[in-house]
Amino acid sequence: MPIIAIRNMTKRFGQTVAVRELDLEIADGEFVTLLGPSGCGKTTTLRCLSGLEEPDTGEIHFGDRCVFSSARGVVVPPGGRGIGLVFQHYALWPHMTVFQNVAFGLRKKGLTRSEIRTRVRSTLGVLGLDEHEGRYPSELSGGQQQRVALARMIVTQPEILLFDEPLSNLDAKLRMTLRAELKRLHGEIGATTVYVTHDQLEALTLSTRIAVMKDGVVQQMDTPQEVYHFPRNLFVAEFMGNPTANFLPATVTSAGPPPTVALQWNPDVPLVLPSPTPLPESAEVVINVRPEDIGFSVTPQSGYLPATVYATLPTGAECITYGRLTPGGQEVVLKGPEEEHACLGLNQPFWLGLKRGNVFDAREGTLISSFGFSSREEDS
Ligand SMILES: Nc1ncnc2c1ncn2[C@@H]1O[C@H](COP(=O)(O)OP(=O)(O)O)[C@@H](O)[C@H]1O
Ligand SMILES: [Mg+2]
Repeated sequence: MPIIAIRNMTKRFGQTVAVRELDLEIADGEFVTLLGPSGCGKTTTLRCLSGLEEPDTGEIHFGDRCVFSSARGVVVPPGGRGIGLVFQHYALWPHMTVFQNVAFGLRKKGLTRSEIRTRVRSTLGVLGLDEHEGRYPSELSGGQQQRVALARMIVTQPEILLFDEPLSNLDAKLRMTLRAELKRLHGEIGATTVYVTHDQLEALTLSTRIAVMKDGVVQQMDTPQEVYHFPRNLFVAEFMGNPTANFLPATVTSAGPPPTVALQWNPDVPLVLPSPTPLPESAEVVINVRPEDIGFSVTPQSGYLPATVYATLPTGAECITYGRLTPGGQEVVLKGPEEEHACLGLNQPFWLGLKRGNVFDAREGTLISSFGFSSREEDS
């Protein structure tokens, strides 16, 4: 049985449909991220789960408990749902020490003083805060304060943890450290987690599954690898990945297998896609290839696309190179180890090979097939 089940949930604010007929099932112990651009309904979904917001229609179940049902008039208040919440703007009690802040939520639970002390100390230990228990929030860094907020939530041992962009107020380095912290914490306490973020890297690194949302609707819910490599539609393909993937409009000239396409920008090079599945003859498609899945050569190769270097952006370990297809001029971006890209100078001709990617229906925006992946990857 899923530990969280949302059925046909809709939430409106006046004319705005913030969440539309949402169905979502989350298994015990999962770390599920709600990912999408600002305004896509992530926070609203989380607030409905927590009980801070009441959906217009639908049902929410936690295990075998129904905590919300519009049809049966069930509305369990936030305090009765067995959840822990952490928001972007966390508020610690400024006049209480770290220890007192964390112990606060345990006071009404009828535990003895020594039970409280044991639980607070062990939680502070898990979060590396043992040495700071006597300090006041003003004596802590932003990252330490956010860890206290985490400690305060997990000390009550909720079955379900809900996070709304808890790291977005912190600087990049601290965010990375706390990501590792969160992942370790999840591995250690194993509580089912729903995590809201607009940051795709955060979602990819933390989650067991990602639900990508747009306009209040889940576009795809899969493992990070599946969402990244096999996006179900063009929206997901564009949203995931940095820099944004390449999208090359094309027409299928031979169904195959292997299928052959002619690029809209450069129809003179017939491109054979290494795919075991045929494509519909004459179909208008979009070839989607990630920057790291483009190979290149500084000499002409058959089946490779001629291009010139537009700009190179070395970042230390890897390099992002922008090129323009010749003829046509469509921009392409590739990413690889910096030493491999070192031979690419400004305005230099080079040839691009598409190693693996996805084919989308140009009109519907839906995934038709993938090419170049080993069959094990495609099956997974
Ligand atoms: N309290 C509210 N009153 C009116 N509109 C709201 C309210 N909360 C959210 N919305 C609207 O609902 C949509 C989804 O918002 P939200 O869930 O906050 O998105 P996200 O967290 O993904 O950025 C947006 O269009 C937003 O403007
Ligand atoms: Mg939000």
